[in-house]
Amino acid sequence: MSRKVAILGGIGNAAVIAAAIDHAHRLGATDLEVAGFLNDRTPVGEKIDLYPVIGTLSDTKRLLDEGYWFINAILRIDGNRERIAMFESLGIPDDRLATFVHPMAYVAPSVQLSPGCVVLPQVAMSPGSRLGRGTIMMVGATMGHDNLVGDFCHIAAQACVGSYLTIGKGVHVGLNATIRENLTIGDYATLGMGAVLTKNMGPNEIWAGNPAKFLRYAE
Ligand SMILES: CC(C)(COP(=O)(O)OP(=O)(O)OC[C@H]1O[C@@H](n2cnc3c(N)ncnc32)[C@H](O)[C@@H]1OP(=O)(O)O)[C@@H](O)C(=O)NCCC(=O)NCCS
Repeated sequence: MSRKVAILGGIGNAAVIAAAIDHAHRLGATDLEVAGFLNDRTPVGEKIDLYPVIGTLSDTKRLLDEGYWFINAILRIDGNRERIAMFESLGIPDDRLATFVHPMAYVAPSVQLSPGCVVLPQVAMSPGSRLGRGTIMMVGATMGHDNLVGDFCHIAAQACVGSYLTIGKGVHVGLNATIRENLTIGDYATLGMGAVLTKNMGPNEIWAGNPAKFLRYAE
């Protein structure tokens, strides 16, 4: 029997995740079945890619009562604190956050994925890392070993995350960015696309470039 999953979000991240879950479902590799999106901007009934908007965020409680599972794909790249607080305010219990690993990803057996984590195709994760709730590894991202990653981080496509890192909550690692081993990244920090990070980043800081430098604080 399938578990129906409602994905919070729409155009962009959520649609990418919906397609990956649907693909895995059609292969028989997951019991998750995409019900559609919860989205406050696109009218209910409209489709985003192949999947309908089935409600607004205020429908969460009803869908919880109806037995749905949830994935949070709402993201703001340059500072994610508000969006995460909004998600937390919905009160979805961890045992209804769906964890999804696409069958074309490699995740070492000792990697710990918390509820709500999403791992998309072509991701490779070496042993010993722990990902917090709702953290998402986008297509082709790679992660070294023994990392501690906080809740609701977003590791964008093709990012190359090193080893022995401590990454806070709500961190965005940009497209194709590279992170050296043994560093610390503070909560809600953003690393720009293509960056090469060689130093620690503080909370709410936005860094970019090669080598990456401080650009500004998240608003
Ligand atoms: C780092 C980032 C958040 C900065 O955004 P921003 O504050 O709007 O920055 P701006 O576009 O105003 O650029 C400010 C300056 O930084 C430079 N810059 C911005 N992003 C950069 C990057 N990734 N690498 C190098 N330089 C960058 C700009 O060229 C500009 O330089 P200038 O002042 O000399 O003209 C953004 O550019 C970025 O990289 N976002 C991540 C994209 C991503 O990962 N997408 C995944 C989607 S799921």
